[in-house]
Amino acid sequence: MFKIVTIPGDGIGPEVVASAVQVINALEEKYDLEVSIEEHLFGGASYDVHSEMLTEETLEACKNCDAVLLGAVGGPKWENLPHEKKPEAALLRIRKELGLFANFRPAKVYDALVNASSLKPDILSGTDFMVIRELTGGIYFGQPRGYDDTKGWNTMVYEKYEVERIARLAFETAMKREKRLVCIDKANVLECSQFWRNIVHEVHKDFPDVELTDMYVDNAAMQVVRDPKQFDVIVTKNLFGDILSDISGMITGSLGMLPSASIGKNHALYEPIHGSAPDIAGQNKANPIATIASVAMMFEHSFSMQHVADDIYKAIEKTLESGMRTADIANSDDNIASTTEITDAITANLEVS
Ligand code: NAD
Ligand code: IPM
Ligand code: MN
Repeated sequence: MFKIVTIPGDGIGPEVVASAVQVINALEEKYDLEVSIEEHLFGGASYDVHSEMLTEETLEACKNCDAVLLGAVGGPKWENLPHEKKPEAALLRIRKELGLFANFRPAKVYDALVNASSLKPDILSGTDFMVIRELTGGIYFGQPRGYDDTKGWNTMVYEKYEVERIARLAFETAMKREKRLVCIDKANVLECSQFWRNIVHEVHKDFPDVELTDMYVDNAAMQVVRDPKQFDVIVTKNLFGDILSDISGMITGSLGMLPSASIGKNHALYEPIHGSAPDIAGQNKANPIATIASVAMMFEHSFSMQHVADDIYKAIEKTLESGMRTADIANSDDNIASTTEITDAITANLEVS
C-alpha cells in the first residue's frame, strides 16, 4: 500500500493536482496497485480556513506518508501578509521540517515540443540535464534576515555537512548518467560560494570517474540557453537553482512542463516547479504535465517502480505527438486543449500502452 498525501494549495494547484490524481487512479487499475490518497489544506487555501498556512495536522500528515504531492502556493490575495505569514514561507517550512535538502529538476526536451520553445529547435533537440538544487539552506534560510525603514538584509550561509551531502548525491547521480557534473556558484565574489566550491572538490576525490567542471552562475545562465546539450548534471545552491531551473523550463517549452522531486533522508515531496499562476487560475487552462511528470518521479524515487514511471512518460509523449497542446505550449495554428482534455488524453494513453 502506497500512502500519498496531496496538498493542492492555491491558484492552478488544485487543477493540476486533480489531473495527477486522475493519472494515479488509472495506474492503480492498470497495475492493480493499492494506493491511498489523502488531501490536506496548505498555503492560502489553509489560511482562509484556519488562519494558518501550514497547520500541525497537514504537517503531521506529510510526515506520516510515503510521498507528498504538492500543487503550488501563493497568489495576490495573500501577498501583503507579513513576510513570515506568507504562503511561500510555509513552503520553506515544509521543506525544512521534512528535511528535503535535495531538489531534482530534470530539463528534458520532448521531441514533439522542439518547436514550442522560444529557442531554436537544433539547439534544443536532445537536451537532457538534471539540475540538483540545494533546498534547505543558503540565503533562503540564513539568519539574520529582515528589513526596517532604512535597510533590508539576508544571510547566505552553508554548513559543511550541507554541502557535502548535496555534493555526494550530485556525484552519485552523475555516476548513473554521463558522469559529468558542473558545479555552479559565484566563487569569484562570494566567500560562501568559495567554501561551497572547495567542499564539492573535496567530495570529488571519492568520485574520480566523474568529470567535474566549475562555472560561475552568470555564465551558466547564458550557457543554458546558448548550448543546453553541454550539461549532464548541475549542482548548485538554493537561490541559483531556483533561477536556473526556471530558465530550464523554457528549454522544455514552458514552466508547465517541468517536474521536481524534493528528497530527504526520511521524506519525499513531488511538485511542479511552477507557481500558482494566478493569471490563468480557475480557467481550465493550466498545463498539468509538470505535475503528472512529478508523479512519474514519485514512482521512480519513492516507490522504486521505474516501469510505471516510464509508462507515464510514454503516455505524455504519445499525447504530445498526437498534437494535443495546452495554450502555454501551443503554436498559433494549434488547436488548444484544456487541462481536463489533455489529462483525459494522457490517462487514455496510459490505459492502452
Ligand atoms: P508562476 O510560475 O506561477 O507563473 C509564471 C508564468 O508561467 C505565468 O504566466 C503562468 O501563467 C505561467 N505558468 C506557470 N505554470 C503554468 C502551467 N502549469 N501551465 C501554463 N502556464 C503556466 O510564477 P509567478 O507568477 O511568479 O508566481 C505566482 C505565485 O506563485 C506567487 O505567489 C509565487 O510566490 C508562487 N510560486 C509558488 C511556487 C510553488 O508553490 N512551488 C513556485 C513559484 C512561484
Ligand atoms: C520554487 C518557488 C519557491 C522557491 C518559492 C515559492 C518559495 O519559486 O519552488 O521554485 O523559491 O523555492
Ligand atoms: Mn522557483
